[in-house]
Amino acid sequence: MLHPPLPFSLRPMQLADLQAVATIDRLSYPTPTRESLFHHELSENKMAHYQTLAVRKTIVGFAGYWLIGDEVHVSTIAIHPDWRGQHLGELLFLDILLSAYQHPACLVTLEVRRSNSVAQALYEKYELVVVGERRGYYRDTGEDALLMTVTPLDGRYHQFLINQQTTLFAHLQTEA
Ligand SMILES: CC(C)(COP(=O)(O)OP(=O)(O)OC[C@H]1O[C@@H](n2cnc3c(N)ncnc32)[C@H](O)[C@@H]1OP(=O)(O)O)[C@@H](O)C(=O)NCCC(=O)NCCS
Repeated sequence: MLHPPLPFSLRPMQLADLQAVATIDRLSYPTPTRESLFHHELSENKMAHYQTLAVRKTIVGFAGYWLIGDEVHVSTIAIHPDWRGQHLGELLFLDILLSAYQHPACLVTLEVRRSNSVAQALYEKYELVVVGERRGYYRDTGEDALLMTVTPLDGRYHQFLINQQTTLFAHLQTEA
């Protein structure tokens, strides 16, 4: 897990974080995630890895992924609206991408709403490309999902991530 400059910190999500996480989730998605689902992810899903991002002691974002075979599948990523546009979503995403190297993973995948150009820009910045679409994937709005992926997770991409981390930490240092 990355150790960004203070006052920012990342750590594995705990059950005690769920109230703060649910608040951010509600402010971030058209249909909030059921709290019982987060509960299941943290307590029972062995494939699930979730982390929270705090500024001092306040949780301002979270992200999660499932490790499915050799695939890291990003399940969620959200930043509190008051904290967006300050490279914090990028910090969470970079943390997942670097975590992929701790597993025998060879690709990172995710689904994103077709209309979610902000998230797509973040993923494209990290070289994910659209490889498919799932029609009507989101049951709440009927919107299509774009399937995005980056592969291979090779030495070149790792070096790219390290360079991005250096730039990102310099930004965060300035913003702190
Ligand atoms: C997607 C989300 C996590 C991005 O977090 P964020 O902290 O606001 O984004 P960052 O400040 O880290 O920006 C990182 C990159 O994302 C893109 N980005 C961020 N805000 C953007 C905007 N308003 N317009 C276009 N691109 C934007 C840019 O590529 C940016 O890099 P740059 O600053 O070098 O141009 C955040 O908007 C969010 O929580 N959205 C609601 C939940 C959601 O849609 N999650 C994704 C589900 S697939």
